[in-house]
Amino acid sequence: MIPLNQRLKKVSTYIQGHCLADIGSDHAYLPIYAIESNIIDTAIAGEVIKGPFDASIRNVQDYELSHKIDVRLGDGLTIITPEDHISSVSICGMGGPLIAKILCEGAEKLADKPRLILQSNIQSSAIREQLLKLNYTIVEEELLEEKGHIYEILVADYNKDFESMTNQEIKFGPKLLQNKTSLFYKKWERERDALFKIKRNLNPNVHTERLREIDEDIHSINEVI
Ligand SMILES: C[S@@+](CC[C@H](N)C(=O)[O-])C[C@H]1O[C@@H](n2cnc3c(N)ncnc32)[C@H](O)[C@@H]1O
Repeated sequence: MIPLNQRLKKVSTYIQGHCLADIGSDHAYLPIYAIESNIIDTAIAGEVIKGPFDASIRNVQDYELSHKIDVRLGDGLTIITPEDHISSVSICGMGGPLIAKILCEGAEKLADKPRLILQSNIQSSAIREQLLKLNYTIVEEELLEEKGHIYEILVADYNKDFESMTNQEIKFGPKLLQNKTSLFYKKWERERDALFKIKRNLNPNVHTERLREIDEDIHSINEVI
């Protein structure tokens, strides 16, 4: 069984259906693990950069899974075809704005309404805004800490009935707000400390607008922790 970190193991628990498209797959660790664990039958591993793409091909060959995992070189969701009938899409280990951009640019590739499992390192608010535009509803959200980093996992399913989110929910996560864990407090205390640090280095006579934004951010964090 291929070794997998806790972050991607957690992501694997949310995969649904028979076929996964893992975008930004790097070494194809997640698709290999998901097949070996009988979570899915087949997978597509998408990578935009040649080096990680080659590493994925090598790994898939080493684990003798070339008949089950198709490794494709390309940008975001462009590698998905209608014949794939994917049931889940994972996009992990990237910043929120990049994940949101991939979803926005590839929206038409989500015709089969696959479940989305999105794991961001920063700024998940951009993902939540994009999910709203795509009529996807967040069904699960989770924070996890590994090697000092706090990661967010967002799980979303297509929902034809439009659901809205408040600005606070977009920033902090609707599910995370409903169940504030110690990690939630740790994450936002950390973010607030970082904002205080930036604030100390700004000149009030020059950076008026930036300071106003930071104060608003700090205020919004204070409201939830
Ligand atoms: C930090 S790695 C994360 C790898 C793996 N998903 C994980 O979570 O451990 C991000 C990977 O996404 C790839 N990537 C970035 N933008 C992409 C895009 N638009 N389409 C496909 N892959 C992309 C990068 O080349 C890189 O291999």
